[in-house]
Amino acid sequence: MAVTRTPLIAGNWKLNLDHLQAIAFVQKLAWSLGDAKHDFAAAEVAVFPPFTDLRSVQTLVSSDKLPIAFGAQDLSEHDSGAYTGEISGAFLAKLECSYVIIGHSERRTLHNETDEVVGAKVQAALRHNLVPIICVGETADDLEKHGPSAVPVAQLRAALAGVTGAADVVVAYEPVWAIGSGQAATPEQAEQVAAALRTVLVETLGEDVAAKTRILYGGSVKAANIAGFMREPNVDGALVGGASLDLDEFASIVRFPQHVGL
Ligand code: 13P
Repeated sequence: MAVTRTPLIAGNWKLNLDHLQAIAFVQKLAWSLGDAKHDFAAAEVAVFPPFTDLRSVQTLVSSDKLPIAFGAQDLSEHDSGAYTGEISGAFLAKLECSYVIIGHSERRTLHNETDEVVGAKVQAALRHNLVPIICVGETADDLEKHGPSAVPVAQLRAALAGVTGAADVVVAYEPVWAIGSGQAATPEQAEQVAAALRTVLVETLGEDVAAKTRILYGGSVKAANIAGFMREPNVDGALVGGASLDLDEFASIVRFPQHVGL
């Protein structure tokens, strides 16, 4: 029997929106999707605000019982201790975060996060029952030198080293050259890498977990191109940057089942 994976549309806000703006945005997003009768079982929605917004978003989501998930953009590999400026997975779990983004290319390049650190952070997330959204992706240079799948596959293997059993993870394939460039991968390119990543999931986590694990595409996703990605068999959603800050655009991406004809 074919496994069905609930698509996930995730908005990575990066360093945008303070906690008051976050409250207004999430409230309006919920209204907009409610008005449009969005079926949250057909496409799950999650937002990833800055750390300082999370308590406000949690309070709003829980008091108004909004069907919107949320998570953090990073976490510490450590649970507690003398690590000034770090945020523990334990704190994120207390804030009812469902997810945490790990190994985004901006953290890998701007904060020197190595594959080892990414792996340690994945384990920290799993210790606290947070679902890690493990980001992998190649630069334009990697693409030219090694082809499309080699670097993302190696990054995913490293991120999952030490993870065993029925781990609940999400993988996000984000080609670095497509992030913020306005030049998205083609659906065929995304599918080719997503299929290779699913093979890694089969090898590391087993067939059953691999069949259930969602693989997202990220990099210049917009309402105008989401349909093509969602038609691909191994692409189960999107990690959206810039377009997740535009309410109408993001709501339209979330509502892709209505314009994809799936
Ligand atoms: P853009 O959608 O702005 O290209 O960003 C993608 C991204 O980095 C999401 O994590």
